[in-house]
Amino acid sequence: MIEITERAEVERILSDPASRVPPAAIAAAPVPSPLASFRAGVSRFVNGAEHDVRRTRLDALLDGLDHAALAADAAARTRAATPIRDLPVAVLAHALGFARPDALPALVEVVAAAYPFGEAADPDEADAAVTALLEASAALDADERVLRVQLLVQAHAATVALVERAVALAGSSDAMVSTRSLLESVLRDDSPVPATRRLVPGGGAPVVLRLDGPDREATADRPARILAFGAGARACPAPHHALAIAAAIVDTLRTGRPRDEESSRDADPR
Ligand code: HEM
Repeated sequence: MIEITERAEVERILSDPASRVPPAAIAAAPVPSPLASFRAGVSRFVNGAEHDVRRTRLDALLDGLDHAALAADAAARTRAATPIRDLPVAVLAHALGFARPDALPALVEVVAAAYPFGEAADPDEADAAVTALLEASAALDADERVLRVQLLVQAHAATVALVERAVALAGSSDAMVSTRSLLESVLRDDSPVPATRRLVPGGGAPVVLRLDGPDREATADRPARILAFGAGARACPAPHHALAIAAAIVDTLRTGRPRDEESSRDADPR
């Protein structure tokens, strides 16, 4: 297995249109399982025109979400002592109009564990979770239901890790350090998604691309580049949504108040 760690090289490969994602395996079974059908229907495991179409639909769904409303809901749920692990999915599911948003994080957790490689510890449990999530989606169109569930699955572990790491960093940092700069430190130094994979031209097996490797071009004046949200046409489409939710949770845990209620001391224009 080839692993590329240098951030400049990783960024170059991610931005190269000739790099492809390893596609979801075409199911050998006559009737593919719900998990296999789900993986085949998302944007994450297809290339070319199919990816472009799904990505455009995802972007439209994300454009319909109001960042301030996401932040307000995240703060309210944090104040109501919802566990950090459940927060990002509950907030997004509520905003996307899913039925019973509070019941969905446990289902998403199961699907997210099987999502990257299509392998579940308990395949029946994973299939049941996919089916329940699709049923809870507000969309009438089956393709869009898959994409709405994809948003929950993609958001879950990465946003939880971002929040948990920023909270841990807050514990060892000066109280004056802004939440935004805590989040930025985590993204730069401790990427919540540590690696991704690509098939590169002329190569055989997928190469592993580290998002948390060294940046040899970094200097005292030029901090290491941030690859935590990926790069190129397949970069995460939701960094602003993720940061709105994460900042509201971390702010609320630190101060009991969401950022827009804070004094100018914490107003950070970035
Ligand atoms: C609201 C929260 C989030 C949502 C809805 C979301 C959604 C998505 C989606 C749909 C994709 C697939 C894009 C495509 O196929 O074109 C994606 C990719 C990605 N996301 Fe997110 N995401 C969220 C949070 C995060 C966070 C917090 C991180 C890490 C800090 C992250 C890192 C990534 C990365 C690295 C990729 C690209 C993977 C690759 O190139 O192989 N995401 N995200």
